[in-house]
Amino acid sequence: MMWAVYGITFLLFVQHAASYNILVLFGHMGKSHYDVFKPLFQELGERGHNITILSHVKTQGDIKNSRDVLLSNVPLVNHLDLKHFTQSHLQRYTEVAFLAYFSDFACNSSLQSEELQKFLQEDQHFDVILAEFFNSNCLYGLITKYKAPFIGLSSCAMMHWHPRWFGAPDNPAYVNSIYMAYPAPMSFLQRMENTLMHLVNIFWYKTYMEQPGREYSLKYTGFEPADPHQASLLLVNTHYTLHGVQPLTPAIVEVGGLHVTNKKPKKLPEDVERWTNESTSGLIYFSLGSLIKGHTFPEGQLGAFMKVFSKLPQRVLWKWEEQTMKDKPDNIMLTEWAPQYDVLCHPNTVLFISHGGLLGTTEAIHCGVPVIVMPQFGDQRMNAKLLEKQGAGVILKLLDATEETITEALTKALSKVTRQKAKELSNRFRDRLVSPLESSVYWIEHVARHKGAKHLRSEAIEMPFYQYLLLDVIGCLLIGILALLYAARKIGLLIVRTCCGGKKKKLL
Ligand SMILES: *[C@@H]1O[C@H](CO)[C@@H](O)[C@H](O)[C@H]1NC(C)=O
Ligand SMILES: *[C@@H]1O[C@H](CO)[C@@H](O)[C@H](O)[C@H]1NC(C)=O
Ligand SMILES: *[C@@H]1O[C@H](CO)[C@@H](O)[C@H](O)[C@H]1NC(C)=O
Repeated sequence: MMWAVYGITFLLFVQHAASYNILVLFGHMGKSHYDVFKPLFQELGERGHNITILSHVKTQGDIKNSRDVLLSNVPLVNHLDLKHFTQSHLQRYTEVAFLAYFSDFACNSSLQSEELQKFLQEDQHFDVILAEFFNSNCLYGLITKYKAPFIGLSSCAMMHWHPRWFGAPDNPAYVNSIYMAYPAPMSFLQRMENTLMHLVNIFWYKTYMEQPGREYSLKYTGFEPADPHQASLLLVNTHYTLHGVQPLTPAIVEVGGLHVTNKKPKKLPEDVERWTNESTSGLIYFSLGSLIKGHTFPEGQLGAFMKVFSKLPQRVLWKWEEQTMKDKPDNIMLTEWAPQYDVLCHPNTVLFISHGGLLGTTEAIHCGVPVIVMPQFGDQRMNAKLLEKQGAGVILKLLDATEETITEALTKALSKVTRQKAKELSNRFRDRLVSPLESSVYWIEHVARHKGAKHLRSEAIEMPFYQYLLLDVIGCLLIGILALLYAARKIGLLIVRTCCGGKKKKLL
């Protein structure tokens, strides 16, 4: 009896103590960024928190205790034309300009949205704010307005400007750019390129994203954007089993796999399920993600894929927005949309052909399915390289795809070795102390409970860069050593002169 009373009191206490008002700021228009964290919003709602979500994605009534404030009605899906991406080495230098373009585009429409402007008139209080950390700060004026502790959410690996906000080392000698993924150890030229990329990216962010973001914020909210150096925490969608080891502080928490690890596979749509069930020789799932228009696929390469596929015993499920595909062989089924995670985890699925987006990559790793990656932009090249490094993926350049290269990639990706490596990577990736979803919830509640959890803050954040890099100390030591050497020489000469002055003079 006593225990029951304690138990109930405890539950009530927990229930009460753990209910917070949470604001979510998701400014980027790519739907996949939001999708990474949606299960987290659902879980927070389930736990009795109130959650207000500012984003471009409408909640389909599947997040409890939530309220939408729509920034626009157009999340970016099926938006990009494959022909935009040349996949040349030079493309990695234009990525940051591409991000700046998207930031401008999103800020301008988000901040003028009627729903946001109405929301700003309301009297609201928030205990903690979750803000996407990506390519803009233009919504961070709301953090200033509500004066609440805030947490960054990064749906991809950290951008160049993120680690230093938390005082984490970002030394380009070994911390790879999100656009590269050179194998370690990097050669001299690779370190040079990595360093320049790092500096250029930070400069570009400050000049073409942060500064315009500030202007947008002041113009449409009247508030100075919060300084991200004041953030309490960053939840980042990476995990060292895939992304490798990078030094972090306790305020940077890796939650890679957040959107899959608690998910039980759902039932597939009936036609897809029948097709998948009947693929007893194996199913190949082909999808270039939510952002790229499938029908912009170059024609020559499309023909090559179909020729190779038509000779395979496996069946193919292809995400394709159009009704038809010319000369489609019988073992290909087209679908406008499929629940990717559930298809990948189906026991018949043997291969994923992908553009290397982090969501799909994570899902394939979780399900233990090998991937043929045809990276297009952003972090996709890095994701592809990481998969290849783990032996669970094969890189194929879409523009170079011919019957021979496709067959070669398929043979390698469907081999026993690759399948084994994919299973091993999956086991490593899933072997966690607590699930990334639970970990995320814990850390959010921790920050709210401890009013910003300033104890997680690194001393490095406040330091000027010359102190952080010890330039003053190194300079002082150098001067000291030079002074000592100089003094030693002087004394040496003096001794020589006093002892055997006569001879010396003649010699000199
Ligand atoms: C959550 O919202 C409900 C309904 O609007 C309100 O009664 C409750 O007080 C809110 N919870 C918190 C923690 O503010
Ligand atoms: C911002 O939006 C307005 C109208 O919504 C449009 O006229 C203007 O060209 C946009 N500016 C930029 C820089 O996109
Ligand atoms: C597919 O296979 C599963 C498991 O054997 C079965 O439960 C399901 O009914 C099948 N679906 C279809 C559409 O054949």
